[in-house]
Amino acid sequence: MNLKDLYINFFIEKGHKQIPSAPVVPENDPSVLFNTAGMQPLIPYLMGQPHPYGTRLCDYQKCIRTNDLDNIGDTYHHTFFEMLGNWSLGDYFKDEAIEWSFEFLTKVLNIPVERLAVTVYAGKDNIPFDQTSYDKWLSLGIKPERIAKTVDDNFWIAGDTGPCGPDSEMFYWRSNDPIPEKFDTEDERWVEIWNDVFMQFEKKADGSVIELPNKNVDTGMGVERTTAILEGVTDNYASSIWKDVIALISDISGKPYEGNEKSMRIIADHLRTAVFILADPAGIKPSNTDQGYILRRLIRRAIRHAKALDIDINSDWEEQIAKLLLSKYDVYYSELKDNRDVVLTELKNEKVKFNRTLEKGLRQFEKEVQRGEDIDGETAFHLFDTFGFPLELTVELAKEKGLNVDTKGYEEKFKEHQEKSRTASQGKFKGGLAGDSETETKYHTATHLLNAALKRVVGPEVHQKGSNITDERMRFDFSCDHKLSDEEKEKVETLVNNWIKEGLEVRCDEMSKSEAIASGAECMFIEKYPDVVTVYTIGDVSKELCGGPHVKNTSELGEFKILKEESSSSGVRRIKAVLK
Ligand code: ALA
Repeated sequence: MNLKDLYINFFIEKGHKQIPSAPVVPENDPSVLFNTAGMQPLIPYLMGQPHPYGTRLCDYQKCIRTNDLDNIGDTYHHTFFEMLGNWSLGDYFKDEAIEWSFEFLTKVLNIPVERLAVTVYAGKDNIPFDQTSYDKWLSLGIKPERIAKTVDDNFWIAGDTGPCGPDSEMFYWRSNDPIPEKFDTEDERWVEIWNDVFMQFEKKADGSVIELPNKNVDTGMGVERTTAILEGVTDNYASSIWKDVIALISDISGKPYEGNEKSMRIIADHLRTAVFILADPAGIKPSNTDQGYILRRLIRRAIRHAKALDIDINSDWEEQIAKLLLSKYDVYYSELKDNRDVVLTELKNEKVKFNRTLEKGLRQFEKEVQRGEDIDGETAFHLFDTFGFPLELTVELAKEKGLNVDTKGYEEKFKEHQEKSRTASQGKFKGGLAGDSETETKYHTATHLLNAALKRVVGPEVHQKGSNITDERMRFDFSCDHKLSDEEKEKVETLVNNWIKEGLEVRCDEMSKSEAIASGAECMFIEKYPDVVTVYTIGDVSKELCGGPHVKNTSELGEFKILKEESSSSGVRRIKAVLK
């Protein structure tokens, strides 16, 4: 039986009800982007609200912590992890909590007492030394030398405010070296495996601390770390949780794990987190804000490291890895089954989007660092805005060259840019062709439909090369290596007319240029556009950067007819068409 099942069974036997894992994106808590601990979804109940499942609960909870991406790549940090927890909501307190922790560790997981050490709260200000916990550990057979009294790490709170209290942490001796008699909390061979928090206070925004109506217990045990310990490995990625994922990455890249650990761990870790975010009921997609931005950063960083391993980015490498991850977890989390297609499609879409600019961005980066100087804020922002490089990607690349990035300067540029976006959405910065007649407006929209139809009929390599609109007709130049056949022309006409008949909505969104590129919007000369652009979307047929103006609905257009198709210049064809 694996750790999750052992844990849940144990606490069910102790009268607990298993509650389902909450989504990774909190449903009613705008203060955090992701659930960072098992207790987070339980905050209202820890504060006194009755829980529908009763006063003894247990679960495994999906958690995401992305505050320190730099650490990913070592042996034990993960952006996504599962946390096991048992809770008492005004039911049992320190005695039972500690007793059951000890029983689970020594009787179920069979950890010898000699390999264990604990901390208890030493007391500070108006909160006294935790004598009860100290005595309890002693009574269970933990020697006094193995009980450290500390303050700093022994008071637990999720953020700045909310339910909190002193805690007692359990440590395991993870080393073949002889186990010292005395527990030294600074000795990294002692690794924390479990935390019992005695949550009896609430910290208010003004810093004051009040007693909660209930004395609660909140505990947390990391699945990844404890599994590694039980399996006797010092690298989490060598445990059964990751071994097959690493083996697959090694297989795909044709490279051994040894010597390539960092990139392989980052790919494994980031893709697993991306899979869980994409499968979450919140429906997060890669974007440039909030959870969507974190998702984008994770996927793009994974891609960059796949590239570093010489994996052919255009192959289905990410799909193979995602499929393996899905199959490992979908028995525990049904949303992975329900949203499997979304996960695979979105991963691929984001890969394709990033791929389009990655090479160019890397070339630009190489150019920038040739001078051997640190990267200024403007350059870092340019790499983000034009090539979709998240800041930490630039930082990471720079670090490999021994250079720094002016991240403060980047933030300033970013703010400046946001300011511009705001001004734009207030309508002070509108581009566009406001003077156009009603007929010309229709031709603008028809141009987008024609462009989309040509891509479908002739091929995705078709791109707009020019356009000219008068009250009488539209003219459209596009890249194409052959004269269109009558059949092709007919197909294009029919497609456009069908879209007109379908009455598709024409939507206008304002966004940053990088967001527009990332969303896959089509455009002619990206460098000609300002930082804030308008993107017109027609049903699910077309998405283009454009100053407008456009009709609201394609049903306003009338009948579309191609008058002429001819050569414009080498490799460029020209269509003249009318709306009747
Ligand atoms: N909430 C406690 C933790 O995350 C158990 O360590």
